Amino acid sequence: MASNLFDLNGKTAVITGGNGGIGFGMAVGLAEAGANIVIAARNETKTSESINRLKGMGTECEGIQVEVTEESSVQQMVSKTIDRFGSLDILINNAGIGIRKLPHEYTIKEWNKVVDINLTGAFICSKEVYPHMKENGGGKIINIGSMTSIFGLDWAVAYASSKGGIVQMTKTLAVSWAKDNIQANSILPGWIHTDLTQGLKDNFRDRYDHILTRIPHERWGEPNDLAGTAVFLSSKASNYVTGVSIPVDGGYTSF
Ligand SMILES: NC(=O)c1ccc[n+]([C@@H]2O[C@H](COP(=O)([O-])OP(=O)(O)OC[C@H]3O[C@@H](n4cnc5c(N)ncnc54)[C@H](OP(=O)(O)O)[C@@H]3O)[C@@H](O)[C@H]2O)c1
Repeated sequence: MASNLFDLNGKTAVITGGNGGIGFGMAVGLAEAGANIVIAARNETKTSESINRLKGMGTECEGIQVEVTEESSVQQMVSKTIDRFGSLDILINNAGIGIRKLPHEYTIKEWNKVVDINLTGAFICSKEVYPHMKENGGGKIINIGSMTSIFGLDWAVAYASSKGGIVQMTKTLAVSWAKDNIQANSILPGWIHTDLTQGLKDNFRDRYDHILTRIPHERWGEPNDLAGTAVFLSSKASNYVTGVSIPVDGGYTSF
């Protein structure tokens, strides 16, 4: 019976930025657990490729173009999901970007861009799904933080600030919406091979290798390493878990 705790059949999950990297790794995990999947991102070519891969697994899925910083675009993402699947049970706020520069090199425009997508975008999506989840009797919100939710990083002032904000936003949503049976939690991925970190591997090999020496599992993570925790936080197995941030990092934060 324990496996039923993680069953997502009949549930619909929206994953922002789910057309690649960590988002797609989590989408595959949720699909394998039975969920219908909405991939919501900007690049339509990447999105249709990811949808084709999910369809190949037999998953009911839909690609929706969204710009997470625009309320009207997010409203359409929510209404299209409900029109297609009848409900929106799980939201994964995964869309994110980084701009690698030292704090004193940052322009305000760059700062705003990172914070708008990573933090404000997650807030807009959460705010827009709330009325529906409330009416539906509950829901799950999973926000994607980072190791920089915990640690400082010299070239990531806006990114780290946005990811620190994700942890506090998660706690506040959890406290505010517990009475509506909505659980809000964060996943803090460690160092994961994706497009976002490819430049680090290619151009800053000393950093890449230094990070590796600090990972007790002795390898960088892969997008599918996030799938299990995403399924747990999406399922009834986590119905009494809210407001927490779970590192999925091969032991990096414990070292
Ligand atoms: N890789 C790591 O080591 C690592 C570690 C910790 C946390 N994270 C976090 O994990 C999440 C996924 O990152 P990733 O590493 O998988 O990188 P990624 O492959 O670059 O994924 C980021 C996704 O966000 C989407 N996106 C960006 N801006 C958007 C916007 N304004 N509106 C809608 N979608 C947008 C992108 O799709 P489009 O371009 O099609 O919109 C892309 O699919 C991010 O929040 C990142 O900060 C990554």
